[in-house]
Amino acid sequence: MQLERIRHAGLHEKVMSAEQASEFIKDGMTVGMSGFTRAGEAKAVPKALAERVKEHPLKINLMTGASLGNDLDKILTESGSLARRMPFQVDTTLRKAINNGEVMFIDQHLSETVEQLRNHQLKLPDIAIIEAVAITEEGHIVPTTSVGNSASFSIFAKQVIVEINTSHKPELEGLHDIYIPSYRPTRTPVPLVKVDDRIGSTAIPIPPEKIAAIVFTSQHDSYSTVGAPDVDTAAIAKHLVTFLENEVAEKRLAPNLGPLQAGIGNIANAVMMGLLDSDFTDLTMYSEVLQDSTFDLIDAGKMKFASGCSVILSERMNSKVFDNLEHYKDKLILRPQEISNHPEIVRRLGIIAINTALEFDIYGNVNSTHVCGTRMMNGIGGSGDFARNANMAIFVTKSIAKDGAISSVVPMASHVDHNEHDVDILVTEQGLADLRGLAPRERAVQIIKHCVHPDYRNQMLDYFERACARGGHTPHLLDEAFSWHINLEKNGTMKLL
Ligand code: COA
Repeated sequence: MQLERIRHAGLHEKVMSAEQASEFIKDGMTVGMSGFTRAGEAKAVPKALAERVKEHPLKINLMTGASLGNDLDKILTESGSLARRMPFQVDTTLRKAINNGEVMFIDQHLSETVEQLRNHQLKLPDIAIIEAVAITEEGHIVPTTSVGNSASFSIFAKQVIVEINTSHKPELEGLHDIYIPSYRPTRTPVPLVKVDDRIGSTAIPIPPEKIAAIVFTSQHDSYSTVGAPDVDTAAIAKHLVTFLENEVAEKRLAPNLGPLQAGIGNIANAVMMGLLDSDFTDLTMYSEVLQDSTFDLIDAGKMKFASGCSVILSERMNSKVFDNLEHYKDKLILRPQEISNHPEIVRRLGIIAINTALEFDIYGNVNSTHVCGTRMMNGIGGSGDFARNANMAIFVTKSIAKDGAISSVVPMASHVDHNEHDVDILVTEQGLADLRGLAPRERAVQIIKHCVHPDYRNQMLDYFERACARGGHTPHLLDEAFSWHINLEKNGTMKLL
């Protein structure tokens, strides 16, 4: 029964246990593993590796698509087997190890990893570990709930371990569209002009002799932990929907808005949920991650097509979607992340990019990654791939965090992931600041008026007015610019005591 999933009969002899397969991984190797936003990661072999490392210590450099589910980053960190990790993570244990300097973390635009591999700017993976629903007659790998970087990892690695996960339905086959750009300088344009265009193959084409081991597993993906919208995220969504309605009325956007991209996490998901209460129809997504909100919008008849590179769902939505895949399959495509996040396509399609900020400053610089400018949260993910090239780059956040001890709007961002030149619209539950066509001093007025929490508004106005008195195109008081962060570290609050 299981062997039916390996349609290339010559590969049947490669089936072995996860423990045996883990022996292919040696000290110092670079390992490219499937997995993106906690979906479709290889599950059994990394766990077996973490066990093996307890007896025989070794360290690997681990590359993935993005974050891993099933606590794998935690397990691998605790086993001490991670030397380097890229390009994204969301795990609290790994986060701690990164911030302690124990694991070297390379926080990278998610479209860039395989491009740098292709150009030999990064060391090619020695081995790839890829979760699959099946292996085709040709020996090609059919991915599961994420494509991520799996295709290029498999192509570039010397050896490939395939984990066939029988908890995923075989019907997933056909969902994927694997397109690999050719080498520069003779590269041709990526031939994708509509969100639902299929431009590649449904499986990862590699020579079957590269497959060193095949492991069967039945462990399911982790479920999404995004919370239901709350009063603040609902208010953010309302401001944004009103703004988008006005853009359509002013004929700056098409009635269906054009393709949408939404970032990870609670806030972005809640904002997309807000579209359920709007009058928009025929919506499309050209995004990286597809969360519950995508499928709620499809179910409500508001979204007609969604292209992503991974699907991560709550337990409720997971069974609804994957037990009824025939209902969704003609409305979905999963692509490699360098295609889902490709700057050329983001610009061509005119994407509206909605991502979440940790903090932003009064001139529109956005910090998505570093708490108080030093401690890594998750990583930039694909937010930069989209924001820089989008038709409209929107960043959302709650105006305060940690019960009001933190203002998410600060005088000067303590770390900049998205600079003022890439940011068009900022939204908090307080309101929306439209920064398009505004000079820095004009932007600050809009941001302070519409986005800052009332508890911090006077404090911010005071800073801005004194900075303006000192002068400059982008006025700042350099001796005070980080005083809010310093106050937080010293006194536990950004409020002036
Ligand atoms: N300073 C410190 N902590 C802050 C903060 C700030 N200015 N603003 C928010 N936080 C904390 C929250 O308190 C919360 O902490 P908790 O986990 O201890 O409760 C945590 O950050 C997450 O905030 P939440 O409000 O739940 O938002 P979220 O789940 O939507 O996540 C980001 C927000 C920014 C962390 C997340 O979107 C992210 O990592 N983004 C960067 C990558 C990205 O954009 N990827 C998408 C590209 S497709």
